[in-house]
Amino acid sequence: MSALVDELNRHNRLYHVEDRPEITDAEYDRLYRELQELEAAHPSWARRDSPTRRVGAPAAEGFQTVRHRVPMLSMDNAMDEEAMRGFDERLRRLLHTQEPLEYAAQPKLDGAAVELVYADGALEVGATRGDGRTGEDVTANLRGVWSIPLVLDTRRIPAAGRISVRGEALLPVAAFERLNRERLERDEEPFANPRNAAAGALRQLRNVDRRRLAALEFRAYALAEGRPDDVRTETQILETLASWGFLIPPESEFCADVEEAIDYHARLLARRNALPVECDGSVLKLHRLDQQEEAGSLPRSPRWAIAFKFPPQQETTRVKAIEASVGRTGALTPVAVLEPVHVGGVTVTHASLHNQDEVDRKDVRVGDTVLIQRAGDVIPQVVMVVPGKRRRGARRYALPSHCPVCDTPTVRLEGEAVTRCPNLDCPAQLKNNVRHLASRGALDIDGLGEKLVDQLVEQGHVKRVSDVFALQRDTLAGLERMAEKSADNLMQALERARETSLSRFLIALGIRHVGGGVADLLADHFGDLDALVAASPEELAAVPGVGPTIAESVARFFAEKRNQREVARLRELNVRWQARAPRIARDGPLSGKSFVLTGTLDGLTRDEAKTRIEAAGGRVTSGVSKKTDYVVAGADPGTKLRKAEELELTILDQAAFEKLLAE
Ligand code: IVH
Repeated sequence: MSALVDELNRHNRLYHVEDRPEITDAEYDRLYRELQELEAAHPSWARRDSPTRRVGAPAAEGFQTVRHRVPMLSMDNAMDEEAMRGFDERLRRLLHTQEPLEYAAQPKLDGAAVELVYADGALEVGATRGDGRTGEDVTANLRGVWSIPLVLDTRRIPAAGRISVRGEALLPVAAFERLNRERLERDEEPFANPRNAAAGALRQLRNVDRRRLAALEFRAYALAEGRPDDVRTETQILETLASWGFLIPPESEFCADVEEAIDYHARLLARRNALPVECDGSVLKLHRLDQQEEAGSLPRSPRWAIAFKFPPQQETTRVKAIEASVGRTGALTPVAVLEPVHVGGVTVTHASLHNQDEVDRKDVRVGDTVLIQRAGDVIPQVVMVVPGKRRRGARRYALPSHCPVCDTPTVRLEGEAVTRCPNLDCPAQLKNNVRHLASRGALDIDGLGEKLVDQLVEQGHVKRVSDVFALQRDTLAGLERMAEKSADNLMQALERARETSLSRFLIALGIRHVGGGVADLLADHFGDLDALVAASPEELAAVPGVGPTIAESVARFFAEKRNQREVARLRELNVRWQARAPRIARDGPLSGKSFVLTGTLDGLTRDEAKTRIEAAGGRVTSGVSKKTDYVVAGADPGTKLRKAEELELTILDQAAFEKLLAE
């Protein structure tokens, strides 16, 4: 059971924290159920850090309040460099020193502040900040956040007694965007920003959305109680937290004086929108803890820390027009054309209104003054209409009944939020598809840029994607602003792009949900296109890392006649790749048989055994179930053997296994 807990925890880390899963969700579920059964049978063996302890619901009547033994203070703000230098001078006066003061610089994370209390190394209570003195007990929900250790790893740095760790629960921008896309597809109101989504996730009482919790990340930045004696600086605090198993802000830096801290702030601001999580400034803390103590605290904020805020990412401006843009999949997106405005360092001229429901909900009309915001790299959004500034006679906006690009009547399917142009050869879709085909991650066609694609499509030289590879040098040379030399270069680039890999080819096709990672998995697994095209949705979903949604999308893509013709034509036009042997020989003596391996085999690693089974057409799964055909038991078998015996499955020892393989 202990090995199973370790294995599940490892997979959880890979999935939720490191973002590189090694097994499918289904395999994970099987392992998880196996553990649940074992724990039910032997409750006293259950480990405190078992993944089954991450589920649970808060008391239905509401959250208990928790008193923070050490108050969670707020911080003073500085709005410019002068205020930073003023802060530094005040501190030097306070500490009676002319020497430069050392600082720890960190991002000011924009999520929900959280306190985690551990007793004897195990998570006891997790609470929100509340008013700084008392917060709400959201332990049950925090247990669903994978980067929060349930038990501290105190092997390297020992911890004693009660420990209070402070940090921020955050929703990474990518997860925020994904959740919002899903909400829009379900006709639900999107979250205003990652902070609201994170705080809301923690305060869920009923019908707890566990996926939203699992998408949260906890980043630790302070240790309020339980500091080991030899920890003397902020750097050592972060090291301690990291060694206990916490994620710490990776952007943290040591600064030898206030000028370095000001420089840190400028560098952080420059990459603000490239960070995976939102931050609204930098935090400066005196590096030495003895100096912090000497400086002391005011009732609401410490004297030794300050937040240097970034300029706001929200501004108001006026809507000049609302336009419908047609995307690569034919979706019509209403876009507000704005009076240009500076937000967080860039000029914003357009903001997305997502879909018709969003337009209706926010009731944005031409001429309105609106609040817009940027978050991460996201396209700016209209937050709300500023009330009381509407022109008289301003009319509600509705997406057009005909595609603005090809004039085909648009459709909105029952129950869907998206309005689409159903014409697959619509130039808007075509332009985007061609751009996608030429992009770096796909066929990487050097020189086939946006302007050129526009020209080629508008002048009718490219009527479907595959036409790109049928382009003639003379056609290219005859285009506007196209020198003979550039035409030659593009012809050469096309020649180079023809020689590609299956993975890149799959990406180039623009199949929904098939990005680089999935394309690699599919290419690896099937080796060549024909095998992939022939696969059923079930077979596709059985590829590790490919779920049912992706499988469905791939199968549907290849089932369409039009796509089949395009693929065939691309191959006729000599787009090619090196086929490889499939990972799984689908026909073999062990076709359709599933195996579970347990224990060690003599002279054969687990990977080798797996390869040999797969080469013979069999499959290896990690969990034992009634559907398992064979359990191969080596030396020191685990609980899987016991389970196999209970289920009366066929159990093979090494000799029997090798005999089977030799058949
Ligand atoms: S340290 C008082 N470090 O800022 C100093 N706080 O204004 C103790 N915050 O609600 C807090 N990022 O949630 C610290 N790197 C960071 C922070 C940070 C964000 C938040 C914190 C608190 C607020 C204080």
